[in-house]
Amino acid sequence: MHDIHDQRLLIVDFGSQYTQLIARRVRECGVYCEIYSYDIDAAFLREFAPQGVILSGGPETVTLGETPRLAQAILNLGVPVLGICYGMQTLAEQLGGRVQESAKREFGHAKVTAEQPSALIGSLGATQISSADVWMSHGDKVIEVPPGFVVTASTSSAPIAAMEDSDRHIYGVQFHPEVTHTANGNALLAVFALEICGCRGDWTAENIIEDAIANVREQVGDDEVVLGLSGGVDSSVVAALLARAIGEQLTCVFVDNGLLRLDERNEVEMAFGKDSGIGNALPLKIKTVDATQEFYQKLAGLEDPEDKRKAIGNTFIDVFEREAKALPAVKWLAQGTIYPDVIESAASKHGNAHVIKSHHNVGGLPERMALGLVEPLRELFKDEVRQIGLVLGLPKSLVFRHPFPGPGLGVRILGEVKPQYADVLRRADAIFIEELRHADLYDAVSQAFAVYLPVKSVGVVGDARRYEHVIALRAVETIDFMTARSARLPYDFIELVANRIINEIAEVSRVVYDVSSKPPATIEWE
Ligand code: XMP
Repeated sequence: MHDIHDQRLLIVDFGSQYTQLIARRVRECGVYCEIYSYDIDAAFLREFAPQGVILSGGPETVTLGETPRLAQAILNLGVPVLGICYGMQTLAEQLGGRVQESAKREFGHAKVTAEQPSALIGSLGATQISSADVWMSHGDKVIEVPPGFVVTASTSSAPIAAMEDSDRHIYGVQFHPEVTHTANGNALLAVFALEICGCRGDWTAENIIEDAIANVREQVGDDEVVLGLSGGVDSSVVAALLARAIGEQLTCVFVDNGLLRLDERNEVEMAFGKDSGIGNALPLKIKTVDATQEFYQKLAGLEDPEDKRKAIGNTFIDVFEREAKALPAVKWLAQGTIYPDVIESAASKHGNAHVIKSHHNVGGLPERMALGLVEPLRELFKDEVRQIGLVLGLPKSLVFRHPFPGPGLGVRILGEVKPQYADVLRRADAIFIEELRHADLYDAVSQAFAVYLPVKSVGVVGDARRYEHVIALRAVETIDFMTARSARLPYDFIELVANRIINEIAEVSRVVYDVSSKPPATIEWE
């Protein structure tokens, strides 16, 4: 098989919130791509040698001189270029057309019709007499196309909604083909990637797995590898992948920090254990460590969220290091780092991402333990990780599990974490999740959980007065977890969950539903 990376697109980021979405959609067409900032290094660009380039949208205006522009080196590559929104505007401005600033934004659905025969616009289903639905989000617009270009589509408010120079293979669309509101937007991206750029489309789950297995084998040889298995999607998929790649050379360490959800330890042991179907298929060695006491000792008296996160993160490192050192001759540490993590840390080095909360992972461990890193998911988006998890035979319930933060219930118990609070929270959370699954709502929300509020409120159950703590329910809908809105769960459903929690858990007097959006709130409460 040829290398599945030898054909690839470059996604140039001008700062749009949709840049990662463009990359995900291109990958869905079966074409590998990577995201880099617009000021990409020319030498790196030559080495990267993409088959085509897509320019993202962005928040700036090309009508000002100081705003980002496309590097000439990219145009010099001579490969097809597709500019989306700001990307189209900067192409227009740089190649000799004109862009007009507009105070009024056009935001939302629009109908495009074709002005000229065009493979891209045709793929949307738009012709000169029938229109196609697209999604717009822009202020400025192109008012004159550069020499050599023709206008290929228009909307009622944007006479130049798309343009192209098919001789030079340079294209621009004012709308956003990457968002699902643009009907057939994926068809447009597929035409660009497969037909115009000529890519093969062999970036598939099966090929990704085969490629990852070959790479891991080559990287670690006969060495022993250790993996921190958390029960989350990423580490589970790494475990399944490595089990295929290197089998007995892998040992998974599962740390019970006392901050897990109800039955979580059991579920992980069942999902991967010897007695499960998967356990038989994957010869996984799992070492479970009960470190509950150690974590609670370190958390005693801590109230500040960042202090709690640090304590949990550091204790995890201590425990994990101790356990890994007790294994014979481990040389490699496997991690479930995924592509958005890589982009995020590149962005923070670049200076355009700020840390709102310190997210906990095993940062620092490889250096401390002098271990090499094995990161087989480093190139993958979450949906790709899920896809290969399914192909590797992991259960759907695990693969489509809502995310769970590294510090676990530690950041869902406000203030000091106490074992009795965790016990109550675990039960309340389990009721919420059970009812969501029961009502077929679990997959409709991106993340749902209960939060423990150690404030006292009065309730009455039967004839007795109850003076106990409060549980908050949180459910959000989001695409990227950077922004989110609270899920509009049916009122009857929320009421049902609240009743069950109050009736079944004597230590809870009241249940509330969190309707905050992110921003300004965050998804977790700490
Ligand atoms: P926030 O609360 O920042 O959460 O809006 C965004 C997403 O990140 C998850 N999260 C974490 N994940 N370690 C993690 O691995 C953490 O410390 C952490 N904090 C938040 C959160 O559950 C949500 O999915």
